[in-house]
Amino acid sequence: MNIPKTNPSPLGIFDSGLGGLTVVRSIARSLPGEPMVYFGDTARVPYGNKSETTVTRLSLEALRFLEPFGIKMLVVACNSASAVALDALESHASIPVLGVVEAGARRALETTRNGRVGIIGTRATVASQCYERAIAQQRPEVQAFSNPCPLFVPLVEEGWGNHPTTRVIATEYLEPLIQQDVDTLILGCTHYPLLSGLIGEIMGERVTLIDSGDAVAIEVRKSLVGYGLLAPETAAPERRFFVSDQAEKFHQEGQRFLGNEFLGSVEAVDQSMWHDSVLRKE
Ligand code: DGL
Repeated sequence: MNIPKTNPSPLGIFDSGLGGLTVVRSIARSLPGEPMVYFGDTARVPYGNKSETTVTRLSLEALRFLEPFGIKMLVVACNSASAVALDALESHASIPVLGVVEAGARRALETTRNGRVGIIGTRATVASQCYERAIAQQRPEVQAFSNPCPLFVPLVEEGWGNHPTTRVIATEYLEPLIQQDVDTLILGCTHYPLLSGLIGEIMGERVTLIDSGDAVAIEVRKSLVGYGLLAPETAAPERRFFVSDQAEKFHQEGQRFLGNEFLGSVEAVDQSMWHDSVLRKE
């Protein structure tokens, strides 16, 4: 009999802060039996307007933090980190690394019918042109149009998803993409799925929204199956959440962010010990 291989080790997931919980939610829905260790770099959020060098350094530190948990795969939940640090992470990690960008681009290409894809994200993600590159590599005939939406992250974090001001700002950001007649729009930032109702209304029903968290969840499942790394079935897999600052605030906001789907306690990482362990490994 051919018994599928399993591996009980956790997935390692990191983001600049809270937003990666939308990716955790997508993965947990698609793989309810997988244990996970999440790191949110709340002391140094946001990544989206930092330089490529800094985001790469912070991403490597997140990898160093997660590795000792024996993670079997690293999921880069942050679009800004996926955009600029994926190659560095792949060359330092001894485990498979999956980012949201490749996954989101692939999903958009499967979806578009008119070959015109829109991309929204932070300034770092849009400036890196990572989605454009991923699209051009796979289907050079597809045209990509992007616009940064830097105010969306603070609006979501303020809980202003349904505020009239957010509608005005979103209309301003999305209008150029409507003008380009895109039929598919990549939500290229962890926070944007929480605005998908509003974004969908403004873009119109002809436009399909691509949640890069959902897209990466599909790729995670495929890779785990492919590498024989799926966790054996358990009723309650362990899910641990670590942050670099303000664990209590993260816990409260996590519940506001994801409602009942946010389960689990949050531990603050001692920055100094964490840095020691990072340094010891180098
Ligand atoms: N997690 C980031 C991203 O997906 C958004 C927040 C930030 O700028 O750090 O790009």
